[in-house]
Amino acid sequence: MSEDLTARFRKLWDEIAPVGRDARSGGYLRYAFTEPELTLRDWFREQAERRGMPVTADGNGNLFARWGDPAAGDAVLTGSHFDSVPHGGAYDGPLGIVSAFLAVDELRAAGAAPVRPLVVAAFAEEEGARFGVPCLGSRLLTGALDPGRAAGLRDADGVSLAKALGDRPAGARPDLIAGWSAFVELHVEQGRALVERAAPVAVASAIWPHGRWRFDFTGEGNHAGTTRMADRRDPMLTYAFTVLAANKEARLRGAHATVGRVAVESNATNAIPARVTGWLDARAAEPETLTGLVEAVRAKAAERARRDGTEVALTEESATPLVAFDGGLADRLAALLAAPVLPTGAGHDAGVLAGHLPTAMLFVRNPTGVSHAPGEAATDADCAAGVAALARVLGDLTRA
Ligand code: GLV
Ligand code: MN
Ligand code: MN
Ligand code: MN
Repeated sequence: MSEDLTARFRKLWDEIAPVGRDARSGGYLRYAFTEPELTLRDWFREQAERRGMPVTADGNGNLFARWGDPAAGDAVLTGSHFDSVPHGGAYDGPLGIVSAFLAVDELRAAGAAPVRPLVVAAFAEEEGARFGVPCLGSRLLTGALDPGRAAGLRDADGVSLAKALGDRPAGARPDLIAGWSAFVELHVEQGRALVERAAPVAVASAIWPHGRWRFDFTGEGNHAGTTRMADRRDPMLTYAFTVLAANKEARLRGAHATVGRVAVESNATNAIPARVTGWLDARAAEPETLTGLVEAVRAKAAERARRDGTEVALTEESATPLVAFDGGLADRLAALLAAPVLPTGAGHDAGVLAGHLPTAMLFVRNPTGVSHAPGEAATDADCAAGVAALARVLGDLTRA
């Protein structure tokens, strides 16, 4: 990779690297429509302006910057998201947007005048860390999420999405989607497959079906010192058993199950809780494996609740079906880049858009394999290789 592109990557990356970084953890707190994420949106507008790219908003929190004449044909869309999970890594999301602007620079420097316009996108609330629904912006845009339901989603402080957006979300925008011929999202890899293959860049084949389920365990709040063990109805026990059951059932099926978030009432050291809420994130290669896993965990939780004298209710908060990316497009990109093709267990806006237009993803090697945590990594040289790959792909797609 040219020194020059690596240096240009670093220079642009340094503009956003401090935004929203938590000094203690080294991770990022970039929740949708909060100050750090709004700062990154301003940065997006600035980058677009520097390049003479007009920016439009879709009323759902998503931003689009266009290079080229909209009358020249359907645009090729590229980009990703700025928002992070709590204490997330630097690259998940922003790498796709920074790389998109740099790819525009590469194409311009090469003197390419695209036949089709190229649009750089920043999608809203991809992680669902603030309002609970992942890929919120792309789901609204594609009509996968009802704007009325979305408007009422609330964050942990009770602020509604409508308030954060400043308006009720606009909902489906088929008019915008009709103007796009393809979407390519570049993303940091969230595993170590590329380290094992000694390749800097890969093309995605599929996204595992996955979802989020909320378990509400209810018992009886009471005194920790005076309530006899036999008299307790302790929802923490049912919760703890359910976490272990989820882990076991996932292992048995070759699937993934995680309980990474929990809320306890009253959350006092010297009180038996009245209520415990645990969020299950479950993923599997096949839909039936995922359904079987969640059903097995539900049944085990219910059985355990009977023994504990507690109650358990299960609510599906989001579901993403299996996404098989456009095979023709993936093959075309893999051949163009001589890159491996890999599936992933992580969700992306590309997975939502894949149901509406030919969509592909590029992954950039991550030496630690860590993601959704501060240890997420990518070298500048690999990021530059990602930009070069994205520029080649976009050059190819905007020409045709
Ligand atoms: C989003 O990054 C997800 O896969 O949870
Ligand atoms: Mn993520
Ligand atoms: Mn992401
Ligand atoms: Mn994601």
